[in-house]
Amino acid sequence: MEREGRRIYIFDTTLRDGEQSPGVSLNVQEKLEIARQLAKLKVDVIEAGFPIASPGDFEAVKAIAQEIEGPVIAALARINEKDIDRAWEAVKYAARPRLHVFIATSDIHMKHKLRMTREEVLAAVQRGVTYAKQHCQDVEFSPEDASRSDPDFLCQVLELAIASGATVLNIPDTVGYATPPEFGRLIALIRQRVRGIEGVTLSVHCHNDLGLAVANSLAAIENGATQVECAVNGIGERAGNTALEEIVMALFTRYDYYRCKTGIVTEEIYRTSRLVSTLTGMPVQYNKAIVGKNAFAHESGIHQDGVLKERTTYEIMNPAMIGLVQSNIVLGKHSGRHALRTRLAELGFNLTEAELEKAFQRFKELADRKKEITDRDLEAIVEHEIRHI
Ligand code: KIV
Ligand code: ZN
Repeated sequence: MEREGRRIYIFDTTLRDGEQSPGVSLNVQEKLEIARQLAKLKVDVIEAGFPIASPGDFEAVKAIAQEIEGPVIAALARINEKDIDRAWEAVKYAARPRLHVFIATSDIHMKHKLRMTREEVLAAVQRGVTYAKQHCQDVEFSPEDASRSDPDFLCQVLELAIASGATVLNIPDTVGYATPPEFGRLIALIRQRVRGIEGVTLSVHCHNDLGLAVANSLAAIENGATQVECAVNGIGERAGNTALEEIVMALFTRYDYYRCKTGIVTEEIYRTSRLVSTLTGMPVQYNKAIVGKNAFAHESGIHQDGVLKERTTYEIMNPAMIGLVQSNIVLGKHSGRHALRTRLAELGFNLTEAELEKAFQRFKELADRKKEITDRDLEAIVEHEIRHI
């Protein structure tokens, strides 16, 4: 049954902020592979990269803009002409391009990092958004460190960004400092005070330093935000960003409370999580909500008994909703390459011929020792022996 309710737009930043996770570096082909999967997941926006950051980032944004259909493709730029030109050069090939420009607005950032006065920041916002708008209809503006900015100044900056042509205003909790009630109030204040706000998309971008990114995003939604920026498996700078799978499944599972819906094909969540973990080399913690190895595992006898009698006693989500399906093909020593390839694809592993051959050899060796090969065995083969995570 089609759900009614407010539509929340999912802006995926796995390929930009997610790639800023320490130790992560994706090449163009890997970024394209993830972007294809994000399109299958039906995210609304893919932030493909930060083109001024490196030639590789530039090429990846360009390749994604040229190939990926469906989502809006965004490129990030600081609010200066050189960055904006570079971002536009890469993203202009997209059917629906977006330029995402940012500058910090907190006193601490303006004083120590930018070494700019409030007046200088205001002038840069007006100039930068106006300049970006000459290239692209769709311009997103982010006041970096918004949650630690003076609210009066923040509202002044946001109003100016709208007047200069911004179509999306994104409110970042850059250092993950906010708490849910406080962040919710900030969003409410912005909606009340900023002239022209009703004509633009109000977005939030939360970091997870205190483990509150998803809770802060939900508080923002309750107070009228309509776009959430997030990354698959919650990867990103330091403790990461709002986890895509968590915010989406929170809205889906608690539709009774939030009355909001997304356009995400939830059945693609598990596959996307596996792919991102494999290509970034960042393992997913076992007890991670939604996609962790233990997220649907029941250990205690009482829980097992309950689940066997009636699944919903201890499961608030059906694992099938995130694409965790029990295969009816049992893999063992008599299975062939086709069955192995199919199951690996269902688990989110699209291997090259050479990788498949290697996986098949390891699978056969294991199957000689073990009667039945589980999904966990297959994941271990690919992650430890093929892709060396
Ligand atoms: O965390 C942050 O403030 C950002 C902005 C560039 C949106 O990533
Ligand atoms: Zn960020």
